[in-house]
Parts: sequence; structure tokens; C-alpha cells
Amino acid sequence: MTGGPLLEVRGLAAGYGAVRVVRSLDLVAEPGTVVGVLGPNGAGKTTLMLTLAGLLPRLSGEVLVDGKVLASARPAAANRAGLVLVPDDRSLFSTLLVRENLTVANRPGGYTLDEVVDLFPALAPRLGVPAGALSGGEQQMLAVARALVQRPRVLLIDEMSMGLAPVIVEGLLPVVRRIADETGAVVVLVEQHVRLALEVADRAVVLVHGEVVRSGPAAELAADPEALEAAYLGAGTAPAPA
Ligand SMILES: Nc1ncnc2c1ncn2[C@@H]1O[C@H](COP(=O)(O)OP(=O)(O)OP(=O)(O)O)[C@@H](O)[C@H]1O
Ligand SMILES: [Mg+2]
Repeated sequence: MTGGPLLEVRGLAAGYGAVRVVRSLDLVAEPGTVVGVLGPNGAGKTTLMLTLAGLLPRLSGEVLVDGKVLASARPAAANRAGLVLVPDDRSLFSTLLVRENLTVANRPGGYTLDEVVDLFPALAPRLGVPAGALSGGEQQMLAVARALVQRPRVLLIDEMSMGLAPVIVEGLLPVVRRIADETGAVVVLVEQHVRLALEVADRAVVLVHGEVVRSGPAAELAADPEALEAAYLGAGTAPAPA
């Protein structure tokens, strides 16, 4: 532990081929913090998460974990540095049992099966069924649980709430807070339910057209109508023409 930020992103640009989707993004997060990434559809949130996880090449910029620059942007290097992604499609092994989904990902020092069940008690009676037989909310719990057994330093959660009723999301988001508090990991949380996300996040950035148009303490953004409008719609915040 260096006492400095756990995650630092400097001047990150990301996209597809020559097409830049995210331009020059900076982010600093201390251990145990939840950083919300908000913004309308197509803003570049998933592109950012895939790039941090090493699944898309960086077009420019650098990523540091615990003060160490990630030399390579490959998935294995990102994973070794402790960046673990919960993708928006959850990517579970649907024919494997819930228990097997957890044990194949398990890494020394990660959450144990008991700890995962303590965090998500709804999974306890479901450990022996195939992941594909779970409800949407249970699948999301399993996707987060599978990330936790890998001992993440930086947990990247893309759209925890995809396809879930708001009442389920309301139950899941406090668990995100608890994970950051218990493990000291940074959680980067992409979330469409802006108000719910700002309730659990420490800080947030609002991405519009791949640029950060607002960033600051979550409570400040929650009290700022223009920031909320940008987070939902991107309205009124289109970048000035270059
Ligand atoms: N595989 C791809 N190839 C080319 N362009 C892509 C690809 N995937 C996404 N894009 C483009 O990148 C931009 C950002 O997409 P991205 O999926 O990162 O947005 P998002 O903020 O996650 O949106 P949503 O809220 O809908 O999930 C969009 O204009 C999208 O069309
Ligand atoms: Mg997305």
C-alpha cells in the first residue's frame, strides 16, 4: 500500500480502430471508493470499461494500479493487476452450476464461497443449480460474486441493473458500497439509475460523447440539476466544435 491513489487513469483515449469514442479521460480513485460513471446511451461507458479491462486496445493514455503503470493493455495483464470486469451481458457459464461458476474463477485471497453467500444470501439455496436457471437478479449477484472470488483491486461493474426491476437494483447497490468498504477495492460503477448510483458512490463522472462533462463528489452532482440532466440525456452539454 503506497498511500496514494489505487486507480489512476491519465489521458485515456479509447475506441474502435481509428474511431475515438472516449477522448482524454482522467480519473483518480483512492482505495475503498465507489466511482460512478454516468451518461446517456452511446456516451462511451462500456467502451471505457472494456478498455480498462484490457479487452479493447488503448488508443492513448495510461492506466496505473497502486502507482504502477500497466505496461500492456492485454486482458491477462489487466487481470493480474487486479482489474476485474463484470460485463453488461454478465457472461456466466450458463450450463455450469452456480458453485462451479465461482470455483473456476477462484483465486487465493479472493472472497470464499462462504463470504460470497454472506454477501448474497439469495445464492445459498441456488449453489447446486445451473447458472442459466437463475433469475436475472440472481444472475447479476453471481456475476458480481464471480468477480469477487478473483480478488479484485479495481472492480469494474457495467450496468448492474440491465434488465432488472428498480426494486432489485435498490437491493444490489448497497452491496457494492459494502464491497468497497470491506475490501478496500475501487469500484467503478456504470449505472443508468443515476440517483441510485449517486446514493452509493463517493464520486462520479458524467460522460457525454466520450468526454467528461462533469465530475465531483456524488452528493454535489445529485444536487445539481444540470449534471443530472447531462447524466440522463446528455442535454445541453454537447462539446463545443473543435
Ligand atoms: N464494436 C463497435 N464498433 C464500432 N463502434 C462501436 C462498437 N461498440 C460501440 N461502438 C460505438 O461507440 C459509442 C459508445 O458506445 P458504448 O457502448 O461505449 O456506449 P455506452 O455509454 O456504454 O452506452 P449504453 O448506455 O447504451 O450502454 C457508440 O457510438 C457506439 O455506436
Ligand atoms: Mg454500455
